[in-house]
Amino acid sequence: MGSALWSGRFAVSAAESVKNFTESISYDRRLYKHDIQGSKAHAKMLASAGIIPEASARAICEELDKICKRIEKGDFTFTSDLEDIHMHIETELIKALGDEGARVHTARSRNDQVCLDIRLYLREEIVNICDRIRDLQKALIEQADANKRAILPGFTHLQHAQPVLFAHHFLAYVEMLERDIGRLMDARKRLNVLPLGSGAIAGTTLPIDREFVRKELDFPAMSRNSMDAVASRDFTCEVLAALSIFSMNISRLSEDLILWMSQEFSFMSFSDAYTTGSSLMPQKKNPDIAEISRGKTGRVYGSLISILTICKGLPLTYNRDLQEDKEGLFDAIDTVFGVLSVYPDMIRTMTIYPERMLQAANDPGLMATDLAEELVREGVPFRHAHHKVGALVRYAQENNKALNEITLEEMRSVFPEATEAMTALFKPEMAVEKRDVFGATGYKQVEKQLAFWKEHFRETAEN
Ligand code: ARG
Repeated sequence: MGSALWSGRFAVSAAESVKNFTESISYDRRLYKHDIQGSKAHAKMLASAGIIPEASARAICEELDKICKRIEKGDFTFTSDLEDIHMHIETELIKALGDEGARVHTARSRNDQVCLDIRLYLREEIVNICDRIRDLQKALIEQADANKRAILPGFTHLQHAQPVLFAHHFLAYVEMLERDIGRLMDARKRLNVLPLGSGAIAGTTLPIDREFVRKELDFPAMSRNSMDAVASRDFTCEVLAALSIFSMNISRLSEDLILWMSQEFSFMSFSDAYTTGSSLMPQKKNPDIAEISRGKTGRVYGSLISILTICKGLPLTYNRDLQEDKEGLFDAIDTVFGVLSVYPDMIRTMTIYPERMLQAANDPGLMATDLAEELVREGVPFRHAHHKVGALVRYAQENNKALNEITLEEMRSVFPEATEAMTALFKPEMAVEKRDVFGATGYKQVEKQLAFWKEHFRETAEN
């Protein structure tokens, strides 16, 4: 059964090459459940509005359930003779029910049907993705909690900056992931709108009851403008933008971990189960999961650029270009699920080397700011203090000494405000301890952050 069934307009069915070029069934079949869910709601509404007989709606719903089971069992033939999932299901319905099945597409177009399906699909998958992101947040929090006192050098410009708690570093990513969840749930709010009832472009002359369908499919709102409803994919752009930002954050975390596992850093190592070897070099243990995750970011960005480009030149309303909206979206979702299927346990099973971290943080230069701030306590304006400590750093370099090897007398020769305490502040533990403002890396503050997140997850679990 080819195009002939679908339109009396054509004398011959499409060429084989055309069917293969224009089909979307090879990928939109993943929407079958949502397509069926939408068709059932639509059929019930048609009956309740008196547009089709109750008996037809009942038969349609029963048959749709059967089709759903058959698809799930693999007992359903997909063919490029039929363009998409909508045509496949309707064809089966008509095959089984004849005229009754032929009533299901009343007052509906594939234009409003396809964006209904994508919206139903996305509102489900976004919740699933957010659950996985939360699992990753929990893994990061567990590691932070288990290594609360571990100190490592914080970097700016990838140069030693100031000592920070490892927990503070990991909790930074927990914050980023929280915003990723926020962006996804925000996008979900805007896409959770019923488009069905818009028809091909202009609505319908039949007395449909959109409110009925809205309630049936549990949408908080319905589209106000039928042209907007069938033409717009900005909701897909938003989801892909949110997934792209998430991937960017994962890529940065991956980059940190890859650096940390290098021999030069040796701050941590992944479990053997979450690394791979080399086919040639027997000694190798590589952070491939982090690398692949970093690499997959490009793919997700690609899908975002693709949908933005697809939409930018389209006159209202539906154009077939829009069929290209799905592959990239599905690929991005699969990619993100893939990353999230390994990342949380990779984090849970990694081993931190706190001694090695501390050793790296023991560079007295990391405490130069603390020295300047000590001068501020003595009444020196900060800019001058910065200058004076800079001069001390130069003095140390010229005399081949580390900052903590400089005596009080030497310090006084550079700035007279020097005190005994200023020669004794070159300890990373002390530098961390003293940073006690809200949001800073001090032990007490990081303890507060940990308490915040634990409470947050208790609440999320309750709701
Ligand atoms: N396969 C199409 C898509 O994915 C469904 C909508 C087709 N509409 C049309 N007028 N040809 O966009």
